Amino acid sequence: MSIRRLPPELINRIAAGEVVERPASALKELVENALDAGAAQVAIRLHAGGLELIEVTDDGSGMSPDEMRLALERHATSKLPEDAIDRVTSFGFRGEALPSIASVARVTIESRVREADGWRVEIDHGQPAGEGPAALPPGTRIRVEGLFDKVPARRKFLRSPRAEYAACLDAVKRLAMARSDVGFTLDHDGRRILSLQPAEPPARVAELLTHELDRHGIGVDCVREGLRLTGVISLPTFNRGMADQQFLFVNGRPVKDRLLVGALRGAYRDLIARDRHPIAALFIEVPLDEVDVNVHPAKTEVRFRDPSAVRGLIAGGLRNMLDAQSQRSAAHEQAAAPVMWTSSATYDSNLARHAREGGGPAFAGMTGLREEQKLFDHAPAGRAEPAVEPVPSFPLGVARGQVASTYIVAEAEDGLVIVDQHAAHERLVLERMRAAREGAAVARQALLVPEVVELDEPECDRLEGAAGELSGLGLEVERFGPTAMLVRAVPAALGRTDAAGLLADLAAEIAELGGPLTLRDKLDHVAATIACHGSVRAGRVLSVAEMNALLREMEVTPRSGQCNHGRPTWVKLGHGEIEKLFGRR
Ligand SMILES: Nc1ncnc2c1ncn2[C@@H]1O[C@H](COP(=O)(O)OP(=O)(O)OP(=O)(O)O)[C@@H](O)[C@H]1O
Ligand SMILES: [Mg+2]
Repeated sequence: MSIRRLPPELINRIAAGEVVERPASALKELVENALDAGAAQVAIRLHAGGLELIEVTDDGSGMSPDEMRLALERHATSKLPEDAIDRVTSFGFRGEALPSIASVARVTIESRVREADGWRVEIDHGQPAGEGPAALPPGTRIRVEGLFDKVPARRKFLRSPRAEYAACLDAVKRLAMARSDVGFTLDHDGRRILSLQPAEPPARVAELLTHELDRHGIGVDCVREGLRLTGVISLPTFNRGMADQQFLFVNGRPVKDRLLVGALRGAYRDLIARDRHPIAALFIEVPLDEVDVNVHPAKTEVRFRDPSAVRGLIAGGLRNMLDAQSQRSAAHEQAAAPVMWTSSATYDSNLARHAREGGGPAFAGMTGLREEQKLFDHAPAGRAEPAVEPVPSFPLGVARGQVASTYIVAEAEDGLVIVDQHAAHERLVLERMRAAREGAAVARQALLVPEVVELDEPECDRLEGAAGELSGLGLEVERFGPTAMLVRAVPAALGRTDAAGLLADLAAEIAELGGPLTLRDKLDHVAATIACHGSVRAGRVLSVAEMNALLREMEVTPRSGQCNHGRPTWVKLGHGEIEKLFGRR
């Protein structure tokens, strides 16, 4: 074996493997350099998602010809004045990005410092490819062409120009949010995509996130133990199928940090379904010596000295804000509701179709279009209470009847309320269990005859391991041979329940939560699963007294505006809205 020093080109290629994964990562490095150079305006041009061309032009400090040559050398940086890596405030600090990019593409750097002439340096896959005078305003323009063209191993992993473009756009958005004081333009294949004037942070964020957040967002500003959290998050009912609208910043640096993303999730636990994601732009400020930015090749992760404080600030601080808004969620959604309501015209044509198809008796009531087909399958089940005058002033009104054994229709002073009985009850059971847990033990109901539930062995192991926690929630289980569990008691709030289904769901739940969740988080998830099992299922006929009891309990229960999966539990159609439906307004 003989050890040798690697030639610089190879070292750069190896570094490029870490720093420059795809066009978006090269673009991110170039824009960061422009911002570090004090640019007030950054112009970006891309062709084919950055695969053919990435060009970044700035009006920052510029470089002299000597500085340009030095910038292309590895570990050459102007950004660590006193070798103080623990106190960096610039985006860059390693002097790695430019030589890495230049080793896997054709790169042209043009630059001009104020009061001097411009100069151009070209590099082709790490080799000098010419220099000369250049005409440009003060600042720097860097062009990257044919990224990875000569690196087939890398090229293979690139995706379509569309996908690479999406990643580039995401990178630009993150940096544009981080530096709202800088103007940005982005052109893709000759089309202007973004044009951002310098702005205050909230205005910049609003411009880059959906404008719907004006109505469905919560402004965030909290301080805890020397940490500060600002930004905006969406109401739980305004969520997405992908976590692609979550923008997190630590001391002004965009990060995609697992700890932070997990803490954000934690704030929404049991307010939002597990496959749905909130929208958020969150800026965390921590003292510089509390955070290490030098832990990830692309600088997108950080390490906190006290991760639990940061987690607490996000999960706890945001949760408090969400709880304070919990009544708003459902009520606020209603702005969009009237479009879901059937007008008599569509209703009649549906009736006609139903008759043509030889269906049974049609449901005679007001229904949402989307539910209509399902409702037609039911025999008429709406039952009405005679109206009493005057309507007492309960926010959710008095029950007037139940439709499709699923929805409670109630009359409130200011409009018509429809409640999804399963969703509402599920939330009530969860909150009851939670309240009980905070106080004393959860009331449990011993089974006269303990129930044996057959499961596979790993499931039993998991449940057995969690038996202590489950007992705190009122569920008494114990091992009964290798592949069975014995259920001795269930939470009283559940009433009669399908123990086998509940245990199977809990075993799956515990497996999924295996990670580094706190006991409290776990218990909340488990309680939510139990609550779902114990709820009044859709399809159960309720008496008017039962309906009113449910409405009254909803009014005094926190977070009752949405079910444990983030769907609204009730909608209200105001009198004005009803008048609009009939053309009276
Ligand atoms: N647009 C620019 N304007 C002015 N100077 C620049 C520009 N881009 C790069 N430089 C100079 O080139 C040097 C090297 O840039 P490079 O991105 O390789 O390293 P860095 O930014 O110092 O650290 P990192 O590798 O963490 O990004 C910088 O330190 C800076 O002095
Ligand atoms: Mg840099």
